[in-house]
Amino acid sequence: MTQTLVVANWKENLTVNEAQEWLEKFRFAVNNLTIQQFSSVIICPSFIVLPMMAYEISKFEGVKLGAQDVSKFEEGQYTGEVSAKMLRDFVNYAIVGHSERRRYFNETDEDVRLKIEQCLKYDLTPIVCVSSIQELSSFPSELSSRRDVVFAYEPLFAVGTGEPDTPENAQKFAEKIKSEVGQSVRIIYGGSVNSENVESFVAQPDISGILVGQASLDADEFSKIISNSRVSNHEIH
Ligand code: PGA
Repeated sequence: MTQTLVVANWKENLTVNEAQEWLEKFRFAVNNLTIQQFSSVIICPSFIVLPMMAYEISKFEGVKLGAQDVSKFEEGQYTGEVSAKMLRDFVNYAIVGHSERRRYFNETDEDVRLKIEQCLKYDLTPIVCVSSIQELSSFPSELSSRRDVVFAYEPLFAVGTGEPDTPENAQKFAEKIKSEVGQSVRIIYGGSVNSENVESFVAQPDISGILVGQASLDADEFSKIISNSRVSNHEIH
């Protein structure tokens, strides 16, 4: 079946109450059957909203949850951290190495590598953000051809700016990732995606989906993104 990965990254937004309101709007705006048939939707709220979302999201077919980050440590004296082992009760995916984590929290390639390891150990699919080929080369070679890893191409100039990359550049980068990491890896694009431009990204042969920040906070706009993302011409295995 041809499906597109549509990932919502809510970042540091939406309280439990606001997330409930978002879900109410989303429920009216989408049709369960079409989500299931055409898209795999992954919502990444803040940690504190996850338990409520895990309960509510079970009512939607084809919608799963992801974390926005995960601890690089398995467990122990690491105040404030949330481990992959804790998260797996709620989520199937975790975003790792987002450029905002690198920029504001000094995350390094080594941190990202350890986080990927934790995800894979506890059966979470890591959505590994990369903004350059140099970053890509820092990942362990064991990642090659792993079908349970998703790479998100997120050029720094496009994240949160309203200025997306061109679909052609995204395709070129996706080809580079595939040649470095393996042909079967899934690659998504992130950076100022909205309901108007989503189609042009998912129409690229090696772009299997999108990662949406700002535009995912509006349930109506996010629903439009899902319905406009159905033109993908590739298979997700
Ligand atoms: P944006 O965020 O859609 O607001 O640009 C994308 C991201 O951070 O992945």
